[in-house]
Amino acid sequence: MKTYLKIITLLTFAAGFFSLGCPTQEALKPVSPADVQTYKSTGVVRAVDRAAGKITIDHDDIPGYMTAMQMNEAVRDPQMLDGLKANDKVEFEIERAGSKITITKITKTGEVATVNGGELYKTSCAECHGGSGEGAPKGISLLKGHALEHTEKEYVDQVTNGEGKKMPAFKDKLSPEQIAAVVKFVRGELQKDVPKEEMKEHKH
Ligand code: HEC
Repeated sequence: MKTYLKIITLLTFAAGFFSLGCPTQEALKPVSPADVQTYKSTGVVRAVDRAAGKITIDHDDIPGYMTAMQMNEAVRDPQMLDGLKANDKVEFEIERAGSKITITKITKTGEVATVNGGELYKTSCAECHGGSGEGAPKGISLLKGHALEHTEKEYVDQVTNGEGKKMPAFKDKLSPEQIAAVVKFVRGELQKDVPKEEMKEHKH
């Protein structure tokens, strides 16, 4: 009698295991309209691929579905992409059927301010470092000497926290994105004609 009970228990267990965990059942199940879920969220457009009818969005949390990340998904109708471009803020709706995601609605709500490193340099730095980085009475040249002995990361730190007694800290005046952009401008534009061998980038 004991053995009999044991076998029953085992069989019940095995049956439960198979009905729950059997992957083929899941895969064969057709996606019925009832399984289509819709979600809403907001985000910023990173790229628009009109030919493929797809859009890349850095999206915020999608409640009930996923946390904030980047998605590259198809829109239901390529015409929905008309007028959309990188840096547009958007509200959107997606439909999920199984693993297939389609963007069914997308509306532009604004634009992210783009950071212009060159403009920032003119308004925040040129007074002391000269319009082309050549230097001015209140600041040093960024095109020769000591200024060339630093890495881009060190520049970001110097601009953020200041340097010596006369280079002001910008951490309360500029955002991290703005500081990154103005440093990129100094390195990529102002210093682009400085010979490589003069860029020593030593560590203090
Ligand atoms: C009020 C004048 C002033 C302003 C405004 C100013 N700087 Fe400076 N900066 C200086 C001086 C002076 C130094 C030299 C500091 C030292 O080494 O003691 C300096 C140093 C630097 C250095 C370090 C160079 C080295 O040799 O170590 C960098 C990089 C720099 N500035 C970038 C900038 C950028 C980018 C801006 C604008 C966001 C800016 N500065 C705005 C005066 C200024």
